[in-house]
Amino acid sequence: MNILFIGDIVGSAGREAVERYLPVLKEQYAVDFVVANAENSAHGKGITKKIYHQLCEMGIDVMTMGNHTFSKDNIYTFIEEADRLVRPMNMEPLEPGRSTVVKTVKEKRIAVTNLCGEVWMNNVVDSPFSCMEEVLEEIDADIYLVDIHGETTSEKIAFTYCFAGRVAAVVGTHTHVQTADERIIDGTAAITDLGMCGPYTSVIGRDVDEIITRFTTNEKTRFTMAQGSAVFCGALVSIDDFSNKAVSIERIQIRPENE
Ligand SMILES: [Fe+2]
Ligand SMILES: [Fe+2]
Repeated sequence: MNILFIGDIVGSAGREAVERYLPVLKEQYAVDFVVANAENSAHGKGITKKIYHQLCEMGIDVMTMGNHTFSKDNIYTFIEEADRLVRPMNMEPLEPGRSTVVKTVKEKRIAVTNLCGEVWMNNVVDSPFSCMEEVLEEIDADIYLVDIHGETTSEKIAFTYCFAGRVAAVVGTHTHVQTADERIIDGTAAITDLGMCGPYTSVIGRDVDEIITRFTTNEKTRFTMAQGSAVFCGALVSIDDFSNKAVSIERIQIRPENE
């Protein structure tokens, strides 16, 4: 089983990068299942019904979210019927949508869970560690995949060690900067952050000059999206069909030409 994880898709540039590279990667790696973080897919913050359906059409099987899940009110119009979307289990508001979905692929039940880290994140009301224990206890699946959406490397790495051997993959999202620490720990594929699909010349997707102004003056800026071509970031995980454990993880980063 080959599973492609895609980092935070940021705005139209990120969506275009997915549209361009996903078919190529699917063929090249014989991908069976695609999980992508879509919390920034609508102009850098949140998601809309239209974009959700566009991303489904592109071939994304499950979308994970994060602290920007509810940034666009439009999500409330479709989240209950969005059976390919998971939102963080431990972040308020807790009621809308679901935080784990189970999909069957090649006769395997794959559970995809979305959690938020507690460190430097707002509205997180429960520990991602205890939430994941609850998922493993209550949800029956062959393969468990987790997107832990968090600010700090340490929390995501500790989470990985805590669940190593019990889940097939722990991938981090949220920082938009890809880490080079992909590895297999006791049959669990891990990477602290997948990185983003978004404007390459940017500060995590936002306009560079505007963010510099924000850091160097008291001026309140709007967080304008950066222009230009996107980088594509993700990771490919292979899972053994007999043991349901991860056997390899390959980091993917495709930069725009000449960068
Ligand atoms: Fe993000
Ligand atoms: Fe985030």
